[in-house]
Amino acid sequence: MDVIVAGNRPELGKAREAIGPGRYALVPTMGALHEGHRSLIRLAAEQADQVVVSVFVNPLQFGPNEDFSRYPRTFEADLEVCAAEGVRVVFAPAVADMYLPDRQVAVSAGAMGTVVEGAFRPGHFDGVLTVVLKLLNLVQPDVAVFGQKDAQQLALIRRMVADLDLPIEIVGGPTVREADGLALSSRNRYLSPDDRVTALQLSKALRAGAVQREPDRIKEAARAVLETAARLDPPLLLDYLALVDPATFTEVTEKHRGEAILAVAAKVGATRLIDNVLLDLG
Ligand code: PAJ
Repeated sequence: MDVIVAGNRPELGKAREAIGPGRYALVPTMGALHEGHRSLIRLAAEQADQVVVSVFVNPLQFGPNEDFSRYPRTFEADLEVCAAEGVRVVFAPAVADMYLPDRQVAVSAGAMGTVVEGAFRPGHFDGVLTVVLKLLNLVQPDVAVFGQKDAQQLALIRRMVADLDLPIEIVGGPTVREADGLALSSRNRYLSPDDRVTALQLSKALRAGAVQREPDRIKEAARAVLETAARLDPPLLLDYLALVDPATFTEVTEKHRGEAILAVAAKVGATRLIDNVLLDLG
């Protein structure tokens, strides 16, 4: 069956009528789809009868010095990916369709939106939650699927669903990586061959941390890899390395037991990359 492309709200309404009842899954994306997005689409298809993918580069979640204007836009290729994966509807609104010029009200991610990744990207998670809430309201899915790759985003979306009583199930999908460990990202296409060698050190640092057992040792082992990577050409410029509680994103103490997320963010050349791994500290 062909993919129905809905470019605005009325078209989305018509698309929903055309495909009829059933359990719906939404996979929100900013396009430039890769194997990571594909894995979420497949997970969504296991959860529901119909999969809707949204493709929207959300200006609200980009800071003034970030890459909104140069974010990759590959809509025709994205449609092919969606068609190949059996997606029924692609919702791809224009910015003007999503945001009223006199808009006032937005979602606040709260204190959890200001730590770790949020400390380096002020307002980012408010922008993410605002657009995700709007997409959930517009598409009205039964389930929405997000990647662990953006672990703090996933945790905050779960928090929003709990705090605002949204009648939607949230499912997280594992991070898809290249064979050498690099986490797939739409931004990887910006990396030169030399950048890519340096970028690989992010996942290498996470693996070095993951074989340790105690919080201090985990961070030390990861930091040693990152310090070596800071001397490469181009250098890895670390924003943060953090070991946090997966639900709250607060730093875990040395006594912490159970799950923890080791998260890293760094700039390589002109590209900012994030990665994380879920650990079980026993
Ligand atoms: P985007 O970066 O396009 O990612 C869309 C979804 O794909 C997110 O849930 C993200 O976590 C997931 N994803 C990205 N890389 C992945 C990988 N290597 N393996 C598995 N999943 C991966 O995240 C966003 O867009 C936006 O913030 C959005 C939620 C759409 C709101 O604008």
